[in-house]
Amino acid sequence: MCGIVAYIGHKPAKELLVEGLKRMEYRGYDSAGIAVLNGGLRCIRAVGRVAVLEDKLTTVDDLEGTIGIAHTRWATHGEVNEANCHPQQDDKHAIAIIHNGTIENYATLKTYLKGRGHSFTSATDTEVMVMLISELYQGDLEQAVRAALKEIRGAYAIGVICANEPDTLVVARKGSPLIIGVGAGEYVVASDASAIVAHTTQAFSLDDEQVCKITRDGFRTSTLDNIAVTPEVRQLEIDLEQIELGSFDTYMMKEIYEQPERLRLTMKGRIKSRDGQIVLGGVSKFTRELVRARRFVLTGQGTAYHAAMLGEYLFEDLAKVPAKVEYASEFRYRNPIIVDGTVLVAVSQSGETADTLAALHEAKERGALTLGVVNVVGSSITRETDAGVYLRVGPEIGVASTKAFTGQVAVLTMLALYMGRRRYMSVEACADLLSQFERVPEMIEKTLEQNDHILDVTKKYVDQENWLFLGRGYNYPAALEGALKLKEISYIHAEGMPAAEMKHGPIALIHDGMPVVFIANQGPQYDKVMLNIEQVKSRGGRIIAVATEGDKQIETIADDVFYVPHIADPLSPLLTVVPLQLMACHAAMLRGHDVDKPRNLAKSVTVE
Ligand code: AGP
Ligand code: GLU
Repeated sequence: MCGIVAYIGHKPAKELLVEGLKRMEYRGYDSAGIAVLNGGLRCIRAVGRVAVLEDKLTTVDDLEGTIGIAHTRWATHGEVNEANCHPQQDDKHAIAIIHNGTIENYATLKTYLKGRGHSFTSATDTEVMVMLISELYQGDLEQAVRAALKEIRGAYAIGVICANEPDTLVVARKGSPLIIGVGAGEYVVASDASAIVAHTTQAFSLDDEQVCKITRDGFRTSTLDNIAVTPEVRQLEIDLEQIELGSFDTYMMKEIYEQPERLRLTMKGRIKSRDGQIVLGGVSKFTRELVRARRFVLTGQGTAYHAAMLGEYLFEDLAKVPAKVEYASEFRYRNPIIVDGTVLVAVSQSGETADTLAALHEAKERGALTLGVVNVVGSSITRETDAGVYLRVGPEIGVASTKAFTGQVAVLTMLALYMGRRRYMSVEACADLLSQFERVPEMIEKTLEQNDHILDVTKKYVDQENWLFLGRGYNYPAALEGALKLKEISYIHAEGMPAAEMKHGPIALIHDGMPVVFIANQGPQYDKVMLNIEQVKSRGGRIIAVATEGDKQIETIADDVFYVPHIADPLSPLLTVVPLQLMACHAAMLRGHDVDKPRNLAKSVTVE
């Protein structure tokens, strides 16, 4: 949802900022820009990827300076053109701003500012922010920013510089992520750690409605009421190797193949399979509340929502506790009933998704205990929940979520067993599931060996514009996830649904040659899935089945089969999703799309 980068120190800002933008480009990439202070304010912007801006920068030589701001945009207000690129400047060209977020009252403010004689050159909400700062500027940038933010409603992570104060960088946030890297006489500010780790591993995050004034001599963090706060500087837990492509062509393919290694880290130190024990330090303080909880609400968006769906199934099946999954964007507005003893579980890779954060706030206000199942350490959701369990799958750069999904499902599985063992599950039953669960990484490695076969099958159907993904029970959410993967990077229209539901209307879509993906693992509803396959096949559909190793019957009916090792049904989505991830990645590449930066998308949706 856009990337912001800012720098103040002793190095040339331009190169450092452009490198930072490249690290942040997965967050939004329709246009980019940079502004540097060097005697005056100099700003260069370009529509398109960061590479287009970089090319443009080779034609200018007066962008020297050791303080600057830069932005890679995902447009929310104003089309994608150069006038709407960030940095946005005030009409005196003295102040420049970069912004991640949306301003809800920008129209009212714009009318007021026009009345005060300001002239606008963009259609963005961001320009209103910088114009308001300019209107309120009386020689102190930090004070002007603070005063402007008091008038603004919406979400923001901003960086602001001013030609009259060449040694000052002011940053602030509310609702959008912002991390401040602390170096020796230099500071790198960014939307996430990937743009910071090359320069320092010491950093702190701002909380909502906090402002930080940074100079080369130090920083001061305060509230909008100018009450000083002391942030906690911590060690960033990622290193450059984790965010490099390595030998892979795309981050998505790298992250699909990372799943076995990363899931071993997700499980490490948390499983004692012999005595059927799970150790989750991040929630142990609330064990009693969890074990006695009357109801769980699991919430997220997109892939995280699909993982939360599996959480619902796992919590009810293994822990025997009522559970319900909700789209965060729906939950926050439907006036939900939060009965005493409700636990809200916010599922999110980034920990910054605006709708999931808002649902979390809604549940907290109504008295729910809140847990986070999140990947990014120190992200907003992790800071605002009562407890939680980190995925530990490492930075996920590919916009299409893969290892975070299996990480989320693995954590939710451990949470279900953590409670199940303290409620009704026997040691033997838990130990049996855990022994299979511990083998999931090696089973995924075995599944990945079919990559060439999956590519061959994808080639057969990649020109088809409409696909269905069908599954039952635990593999209904897996089917939804497979459909999302395909559509969000190959732009093929794909729909997932319960296999039985297909008969209630969507079967009308089946035409000769239409690819229909069935997850047909040997689970409790295998026979029913086989019936559904027959119904599709008899109408000309082409059957792509994800099945259990050794299943010969499926080969008599399916056109193509991807096999996964046999595993207990509650654990099967961790395996069945893998061929679907690979198929989506191949389809996108065969269609010539940018797998890691699909059109219209951004990695983290930090706006509504
Ligand atoms: C998944 O492939 C998508 N990129 C998107 O649906 C994503 O899962 C969703 O935006 C939620 O993001 P989060 O996990 O960071 O909260
Ligand atoms: N709302 C701002 C714009 O549309 C910022 C969008 C973003 O977060 O990239 O320019």
